[in-house]
This record gives sequence, structure tokens and C-alpha cells, in this order.
Amino acid sequence: MVSARDLLESVIKRMSVFKNKEVLYPEYVPERLPHREEQLRQLAEIFRVMVLSPGSASMRAMLVGGVGVGKTATARVFGRELRRLARERGIEIRYIHINCHRDRTLYEVVAEMVRQMGAPIPLRGLSPREMMLALMNYMEKNNIYALVTLDEFDYFVSVAGNDAVYFIVRLYDEYPDAKKRMSFIFIARDLSSLDYLDPATMSYILKHVIRFDAYKSHELFDILADRRDQAFYEGTVDDEVIQYIADVEGVDRGGEGNARAAIEALLLAGEAADYEHSHRVTIEHVRKAFSKVQHDIVRIADTLPYLQLHELLLLKAIIRVLRKKSEPYARIGEVEEEYRSLCPMYGEEPRKHTQVYEYVNNLKKMGVIEARVSGKGFRGRSTLISVIAPLDALEKQVDSLIEKRLSRTR
Ligand SMILES: Nc1ncnc2c1ncn2[C@@H]1O[C@H](COP(=O)(O)OP(=O)(O)O)[C@@H](O)[C@H]1O
Ligand SMILES: [Mg+2]
Repeated sequence: MVSARDLLESVIKRMSVFKNKEVLYPEYVPERLPHREEQLRQLAEIFRVMVLSPGSASMRAMLVGGVGVGKTATARVFGRELRRLARERGIEIRYIHINCHRDRTLYEVVAEMVRQMGAPIPLRGLSPREMMLALMNYMEKNNIYALVTLDEFDYFVSVAGNDAVYFIVRLYDEYPDAKKRMSFIFIARDLSSLDYLDPATMSYILKHVIRFDAYKSHELFDILADRRDQAFYEGTVDDEVIQYIADVEGVDRGGEGNARAAIEALLLAGEAADYEHSHRVTIEHVRKAFSKVQHDIVRIADTLPYLQLHELLLLKAIIRVLRKKSEPYARIGEVEEEYRSLCPMYGEEPRKHTQVYEYVNNLKKMGVIEARVSGKGFRGRSTLISVIAPLDALEKQVDSLIEKRLSRTR
């Protein structure tokens, strides 16, 4: 029995409606996936052979659907459960998830596979083919299997090209006697991005296509209810609040059917409540969340055309670092590193550290990013950078402005 005093104290002292905010961050992998049972079932049908008869076949599945419909989450949850299930039967299956937006060349993709597998293979001085062979040997020697997801596969197709895709999907053609230790999940927004692959490669990839439709309002409600229960203290967010978000975002109500946007709205509404020291999240906080997002996006979009080429490149670097992290902040060191590797892709010389620092300050002043100095952690103080606008939409605009700038100077 909680004493009245404890109860009062906990209410009074509580500074936040959140008990576990991380649950609302985009990269959090949920325990349950309401309304994706059918897709999980199809994945299980395709990849069951990995558990029933390991090494006998290399399987492939293609997940297709718009933004925020649960493709990435479904692949991760499936990989996690497959691994658990296999382990119970004494089979070791690793789940490898690669975002091709970040690693888009064949070299980068194979190197990332090596890294996530933890295989002691040098990443320098080897060709992708040599690395892959070493990886296959490593897996053979240690009796490991892997389910590899190539997420945002569209980017890999457009940057790495047909031969690279062929290399990945027809891996075992070259080694017909090898045990089939690797299977693949590909994820793309739509199949038109695959149009220019040759028909043989294409038919190989498209053997098992699993579609993800935009979420309806009642589906979003169930997803939001799960997250609410984990992220917020009990009694701080009523059903009517998440119903409102579900109604705005649901595809059957004219929304995009995007679960990421819905969950983000819930996060921002909670933050709005905290900001006002409110003990409850109200519809009004949700309204504020929606208008904050829209207002910020409009403002940022208006500002972007005034940025210099290298400010845009730096912004792109920030977006890329944030995308691969599960935290809402990127450290300036990581951003600078990404920026330096990005510049050569555009034939640009990276600017010096002090100049980069100035760009960050300028982006902050113009309200495109938020930047603050971290508390003193074990690595000392560092500038933390975050972005308010949705990364995908922002990157699209940044990309087109970079192209424009470059075509003007060439
Ligand atoms: N069915 C679901 N149940 C629970 N959370 C979901 C579901 N579908 C999507 N999400 C969540 O919504 C967000 C976006 O999903 P994600 O898998 O990244 O979408 P996509 O890869 O299709 O763009 C993530 O936070 C994810 O955990
Ligand atoms: Mg995704």
C-alpha cells in the first residue's frame, strides 16, 4: 500500500510525464508489432528453412512500403526473434542490419557486414570480393549463419549499380558447393527504383515480396497505446489523446499512415506538457506538437537556400550521423568525420576544423540545427547537435540544393 505521503511526494516531485522517453525514439525496437503479424508470418515462412535445415538454402525477401509503415522495425524484430529461436535449437544465426543510405557502395556494405559480424578481417587493402570470401570462411569456421538486411536498398541499387547487386544476390552461384550461410532481406520504398537492374537480377530479388500498407487510424491507435504505456507514467496520457493523433495521421482519415510521425507527435506532446510543468498530456499539447513540427519545417525550408555549399554539406553530414544513431544528438566529432568522408564524393576539399566550427555556429544561429555543449562525460565535453525537421524530408531538400550549387560552379 502506497502511503498518502509517498503518493503526494511522487506527484509533486515528478518533473516529467515520461518514465522512459527512449521508447519513443525512432530507432527503438519495440517488443510487439501490432498489425504486422501477417508480414512477420510471411517472413517466418520464407526463412524457416534457416532453422529447419541450416545451410541448405539462401533465402531472399523484399519488403516494400512507404515511410514509417514499420519495414525497418519488422525486419529487426524478426531478426531478433529468429536469432532467439535458433539459439534454443543450438544454431547460431546473427542478425545484421545495414542502412544503405549510410553504406551505399559494395565495399561499404561488405565492410559493415564484417564489422557487425565481429569477424577479425582487415578492412583495408581487401576488395569487397576478398572481404566477402574471408567472411564466408569465418562463418564456416565458427559455424555461424546470418540474416542480413539491406535497408534503404534503393540507395544501394542507384549508387552501387547492377553488378554490385548481382554480386550480393547471386553470391552462392560462384560457390555452388558452399554451405548457404547467408540469407537476405531487402527493404525499399517502391519497386520502381529497381527498374534498371537487369531482368535476371530483378526476378531473383523479387521472388518473395512482402508489402506494407500505410496504417489506418485504428492501427495507429494500438501502436501508440503500446508506446504510451511504456514511455509515460500511468494516467498522464488519456486514450483520447492518442486517438486524436491516430485520427490525424491515419491513412483512412487523410493522413500519411506513418507510425514514425505519430510516435514523434506523442513525444513532442509529452515534451510540451513537461515544458508547461503539466502532469497530464492534453489535446492542446498535441496541437502544439503538430504546429511545432510544421512551423519549424516551414522556417527551416525557407532558410536553406541561403546556406553556402559547405554548410549544406555539413548539414547533410549531420543528417546522416543522426540517422544511424539511436540518440537524438550527434557529437560534433562524428559529424566532422562524416563531413570529411562526404566531401570527396562531391569533388570538394573539406574545410578546416575551425571553419567547420563556424558553420555549426551559423547553422545554429539560423535555427536550422540545435546545438549545445554536453555535460562532462567520460570523453570530456562535446558539442551535441540535433535537428528538429524530419530527416528524410530535410535531406531531400539539402540534396537538391547541393546539386544546384555544384552545377552552378561546374
Ligand atoms: N506495427 C508497429 N508496432 C509498433 N511500432 C511500430 C509499428 N510500425 C512502425 N512502428 C514504429 O514506427 C516507427 C517507424 O517505423 P519504421 O520501421 O522505421 O518504418 P519504415 O522503415 O517503414 O520507414 C518506428 O519507431 C517503429 O518502431
Ligand atoms: Mg526504415
